[in-house]
Amino acid sequence: MKIRVRGGEATAIAADVVIVPMATGEEDGRDVRALARRIGGSVLKRAIAAARFRGREGQANVLPLQGPRRQAMGVVGLGDEARLDHEGWRRAGGQSRHLAGAVSAARVVVACGTRAVDPTQLAAFVEGFELAAYRFGKYKSDGEAAPLAVTDLTFVVAEPPAETSLESLWRSIDATLDGVRLARDLVNEPAAVKTPTYLAGLAKKLGKEAGLEVEVWEPKRIAKENLAGLVAVARGSNEEPRFVQLRYRAKDATRRVALVGKGITFDSGGLSLKPAKSMETMKCDMAGAAAVLGAMIAIGRLKPPVDVDAFIPISENLPGGKAQKPGDVIRFRNDKTVEVLNTDAEGRLILADALMLAADTKPDAIIDLATLTGACMVALGTQVAGLFANDQALADRLLAVAVETGEPLWQMPLVAEYKDDIKSAVADLKNIGGGHAGSITAALFLQEFVGTTPWVHLDIAGPAFLEKGLAYAPKGGSGFGVRTLVRYVMTLQG
Ligand code: BES
Ligand code: MN
Ligand code: ZN
Repeated sequence: MKIRVRGGEATAIAADVVIVPMATGEEDGRDVRALARRIGGSVLKRAIAAARFRGREGQANVLPLQGPRRQAMGVVGLGDEARLDHEGWRRAGGQSRHLAGAVSAARVVVACGTRAVDPTQLAAFVEGFELAAYRFGKYKSDGEAAPLAVTDLTFVVAEPPAETSLESLWRSIDATLDGVRLARDLVNEPAAVKTPTYLAGLAKKLGKEAGLEVEVWEPKRIAKENLAGLVAVARGSNEEPRFVQLRYRAKDATRRVALVGKGITFDSGGLSLKPAKSMETMKCDMAGAAAVLGAMIAIGRLKPPVDVDAFIPISENLPGGKAQKPGDVIRFRNDKTVEVLNTDAEGRLILADALMLAADTKPDAIIDLATLTGACMVALGTQVAGLFANDQALADRLLAVAVETGEPLWQMPLVAEYKDDIKSAVADLKNIGGGHAGSITAALFLQEFVGTTPWVHLDIAGPAFLEKGLAYAPKGGSGFGVRTLVRYVMTLQG
């Protein structure tokens, strides 16, 4: 898709649709009057009124009239101008993509009128526009195909910035969005296909292509390194586990970030079997791994001035003759022992291994992403991820980045007193809490394995897999976290 930003008259450009983004109370504004003149009289104004378009966020209408070059005309709501942020532009971009799809437009003009728009707002619009077109269509033999491809997206603004300054912006959006699409594809892929072996193989191939160092540990090495959690969880499955490390190295970097992602390709619960209904979406239990992989591929292309290491433990969690059993005790590589009382609390077991390895490399920060607890979904719903941190400065930075990327995070407390809930009678720790605050006790468990390294844990159980579509994400895998991770790394000072 070719993206252009130009000045002049929006309706003078050959296009299939001209979309006018409008805030509330703007239907009769200067821009509309100017556009209306070109279309003829107050036709446009009347059409907007007839559609009951009020500029509210989420509103989008195709108008029953054509521009002077036979373009379809559409309006998209921006909501209250005073509260319009980048996420508002992103959503408007998503609505615009749906609108373009509805009229099968390949060439789209966005008429920004006299509104002052800066490149970061256009970038947000483009993100929403591109991500809204995502479909996981490979298993669909009919219907619901991807909307017609848009070949040209042209913004018409009052004062167009230099074309050269925008090129690098589009390139960086492109790399990031490829990461999001990869994460969505991997989450949506059935577990029968995306086995640990498959995921590791793909990580190797894509990582190499993006210029990353890739190391994949197979069962022998996993046992030798005493990744006890991964070994224990994988025992119930016929599929071998994998442990994947990806490394991005910058020139003269003075800072290093470690990313960790939970990669359970299917979570049946193990012997502590889940009910059928709860299992329906459990192919999504590798969404943390997918987000980390997507972000790493983008980072390899974008080349920030900081080193980034990724640690991705991958396994199925199934019941089987060799499966770990409630009551079993695991001894981890730091000699901590854990009593496994519920095999469905498997994420924290494989993450413990990965967090210890991450901490061993002495990074400035560890960020882990995991579809860790149903309890976090109960607390924060399906659109917000829980953030836990042992370092408030790191937490604040991620919270700020997430506001910019529109991937909502909400900080949850690591209540030290609740550590009592994960004390075991026979081992140092047990892998479940006392029944309350399940997302907190899970995070407290992870904290036991990061030492004093600044660390943030994102429980993405809610937003990783959407039960219904949003403005720029259809239902299914959302790719949640990729954009926040990339932006966090890109805005770090080397
Ligand atoms: N993968 C699940 C958490 C999950 C639930 C993710 C719903 C996405 C949607 C995790 O492994 C799990 O089963 N957690 C248990 C923990 C419990 C046994 C302490 C849970 O949340 O019930
Ligand atoms: Mn589980
Ligand atoms: Zn799980």
